[in-house]
This record gives sequence, structure tokens and C-alpha cells, in this order.
Amino acid sequence: MPQSAKVHVPSLPEYPIGVFDSGVGGLTVVHALRRRLPHENIYYFGDTARVPYGVKSAETIARFSTQIVEFLLEKRVKILIIACNTMAAVASQVIRDRSSVPVLDVIEAGARGAMQETRSRRVGVIGTLATVASGAYDRAIQRHDASIQVRSQACPLFVPLVEEGWLDHVVTRITAEEYLRPLCRENIDTLVLGCTHYPLLKPLLREVVGADVQLVDSADAIANQTAALLETEQLANPQSGAPDYRFFVTDVPQRFEQVGGRFLGRALENVHIIQM
Ligand code: DGL
Repeated sequence: MPQSAKVHVPSLPEYPIGVFDSGVGGLTVVHALRRRLPHENIYYFGDTARVPYGVKSAETIARFSTQIVEFLLEKRVKILIIACNTMAAVASQVIRDRSSVPVLDVIEAGARGAMQETRSRRVGVIGTLATVASGAYDRAIQRHDASIQVRSQACPLFVPLVEEGWLDHVVTRITAEEYLRPLCRENIDTLVLGCTHYPLLKPLLREVVGADVQLVDSADAIANQTAALLETEQLANPQSGAPDYRFFVTDVPQRFEQVGGRFLGRALENVHIIQM
């Protein structure tokens, strides 16, 4: 994308942070941001009509991502956060080429988190089919430290299980044991939760992999990275009142509101339907 095609929007501290995902899952990132940066305004976009992205082609994901980025830039966000691991894995460059504001993504944040945690330099990554097939986490981790060995495992059944609310269900436990057995055999000491939905499975995953394996939650990692970026760019919101949260979705919002409450840890208000 040539430089001239970028949508130019000046960033100001009072502008909202734009967070986007294929659906409801990116609310785990909003949840982490709310804890870390309670005074920041947040506009969240969830492409609920076209979710899941994890089984779609890179071309399709890039096209959808571009539409979302243009929407949020028109809303005057000061930075963009790619909360969706799948979008970050296959469309990160397309998104950065489009954006005139700083862009952060969960993969870079998760990779840094893994680097800080691992002692044995054997790291496991779990994610959607598209994320794992892209090899994006492997590249991001090895860019920082080429001696780290990365083993990845796609866990496509986790997304529907989490959306069903089966966070501690026997079916989820058996599924997790099955998916994680090969990684555990590799003696990993760190496991990156490379999908928006997986932080909700943390207690169960911790039991399955054992206490010696550190779990890297990319939602927490990106919240810390966002705080640092706002500081260095002098974009932290000086306001101390209640923040403005708006949620934009592409399908009727009933399920988003119902499932999203679990992800965000509180009821969702201010939800708008967008035609795309
Ligand atoms: N948000 C996606 C991710 O983090 C999971 C859901 C989907 O497949 O769209 O990879």
C-alpha cells in the first residue's frame, strides 16, 4: 500500500484507543486495558457477522481487517490494538501500512512475554489454525532470541468451548489434555496463550500443563505495552472521570452482549451495529 493511501488522523491524548477483533474474544484485551489504564476511552470493534477468522484465508482476513481499520481511523482513535491473534498473524503488515496512528498487536506482546518468562528456552504456543499455520509467533519469538525453540499447536475447539461458557467442563479438560500432550512431551517451560479466548481457560490450562509451566497471557502483555507506548508518545489521557467505552459489532448484538459480559467481567453497554 503506497504511503498516500493512508488515512491521516492526528493522535491526541483524549482520543480513544481503538481495539479490534474478529468477534467477542478481544474483550479479554479490553478487560486487561481497563485494569491497567482505567481512564482511557476505548472503542472496540468486533466483526461478529464474519467470525471466526481462524479458519479463513490470509487474503480474506487482510480484506476484512482493512475495512475495520478504516472504520476505526474515521472514529479518530489515537492508537490501534490488534487484539485478534489471527489478524495479527496474517494481516499485521497490511494493517500497519494502512494506519497513520501507532499499531500494537498481541503477537509481538506475547512473544516478548515468552522471552521474559522462559528459562529453558523451550516455548509452546497455542492458537487458531490460521495463527499456527502462519508461523507468526515462531518468527516473533526468534526475532528476539534465535536460540529459543518454539513448538506450536492449533486448538480450534477451544474457541467454541469458551463461547459456550465451558471453562471448567470435563469436555474442555479432555480436549485440553489431548491438544497439550505433545507440547508437554517437549518439556516446554512457557506456554503462550495465542488466541483471544484462551485467557478464560487459564485455571484449567494451568492444571493441565502443571505449575512448572508459565502461562503467557497476551492480553496482559499488550496492556503493559500500551501503557508504555502512551507514555513515550505522550498520548496518555489526562482525564480522571469515567471512561467512554463504545462497542461496534457487525451482527445483531444479543449474543455479543451475553457472551461478552463473561469476557469483560461486567455488562456491556453502548453497543452499535455497523453495516460492512
Ligand atoms: N480472535 C481470534 C484469535 O485470537 C479467535 C476467534 C476467530 O477464529 O476468529 O485468533
